Amino acid sequence: MLPPETALWNFVESAVRDVFRAYNFHEIRTPIFESTELFARGVGEETDIVAKEMYTWEDRGRAESDKGQSLTLRPEATAGIVRAYIEHKLGDRGLNKLYCIGPMFRRERPQKGRYRQFYQIDAEIIGPASAGSESPARDAEVLEMLATLLDRLGIANWTLELNSVGCPNDRAAFNEALRKALEPVVGKMCVDCQRRAVTNPLRVLDCKVPEDQPIIETLPRISQFLDEGCRKHFEAVQEILKAVGVPFVLNDRLVRGLDYYTRTAFEFTHGALGAQNAILGGGRYDGLSEALGGPAAPGIGFAIGEDRLVMSLQESASSDGILKKPNAYVAPLGPGMNGEAARLARELRRHDLVIDLGDESFRLKKSFEAATKAGAKYIVIVGENEVKADAFAVKDLATGEQVSVPRAELPGKLRG
Ligand code: HAM
Repeated sequence: MLPPETALWNFVESAVRDVFRAYNFHEIRTPIFESTELFARGVGEETDIVAKEMYTWEDRGRAESDKGQSLTLRPEATAGIVRAYIEHKLGDRGLNKLYCIGPMFRRERPQKGRYRQFYQIDAEIIGPASAGSESPARDAEVLEMLATLLDRLGIANWTLELNSVGCPNDRAAFNEALRKALEPVVGKMCVDCQRRAVTNPLRVLDCKVPEDQPIIETLPRISQFLDEGCRKHFEAVQEILKAVGVPFVLNDRLVRGLDYYTRTAFEFTHGALGAQNAILGGGRYDGLSEALGGPAAPGIGFAIGEDRLVMSLQESASSDGILKKPNAYVAPLGPGMNGEAARLARELRRHDLVIDLGDESFRLKKSFEAATKAGAKYIVIVGENEVKADAFAVKDLATGEQVSVPRAELPGKLRG
């Protein structure tokens, strides 16, 4: 990542921190690598992430006695956050609203919007049910926060796709129905699907092979298998979203690629991104803490793909104002002028102006070239005459207009 694009990343991250703060989220920082077992148990053995995409190694010292352990670069953040929740008994604090920003790693086939090291902005609400962690109000709060963030960033044309993947009972019935429906047709599908049809039929729905899609279209939908509790929960989420005016579309094929999800599942997509059009995804994971050996701790969260978010920002043309150029380039002219120029630059920078500074060995022409390359609006000449008069030649690099400006009036002039 190089400048000037890094300014967009900083802009995104500072907007994220501001918005999340207003919803009382707090930052958590988890390790970049953790035990392989955490991800295998958390995300699920049969998911693409665990089955094919993890960077895993046997971490062994040289000593014979060192038995070593299998470690993995985190492919996502939720498992690590729930591990920390269990380890540090965060449930004692009631409801936790946590977020983290950092790199994730998946050995996927790289293409536009899909990288092997990418960045996620991840947020989670997790706590004991007595603290309200199961409430549909939390689902809606998270979704409304996301809509607010995208609007604040000036990203238009997003679509919120919403589904409920039910609870484990519903899923068992759904998996059974899928298994039955797959039996007569799976022979015509890809080898991955043939394996999934036996081990975890739900994952057949993740298949991206184009030839398999017509068959997948005919399979049963999870929406037909929701029990009353899950249906009511899902309806309540939708009602709150309507009340706060967050638009959504229902998509009952959306099952997400990780095994821990229960009930609400969602993605925000953005048209301009092409094939990898999900800017973010998330959902509820009411059983994850228990699956990792912890207490019951329902939760809901999401992860934004920051690389993709920055791409949509670039597409939306609102990025020009963010890539801040220097207000002025201060050019010392002639031997002995570096000190005076540095003094002036120091004064101007204290007025919150962005100032680039040249060198007395540059001829005027070279200073102009450097100022133009830096993208400065003005060049300020610091020569002997200027220092004596305490007024400086200021040239607008776009219009060519040149004026002499007294020292005290410089900050006001350069801001314009
Ligand atoms: P996920 O859908 O696997 O969910 O990833 C979330 C987002 O990360 C995606 O929508 C996408 O924008 C971005 N992303 C994923 N893989 C890549 C990649 N290879 N290159 C660039 N961007 C990528 C999760 O990770 C869950 N942990 C989200 C969550 C949090 N669910 C509950 N809490």
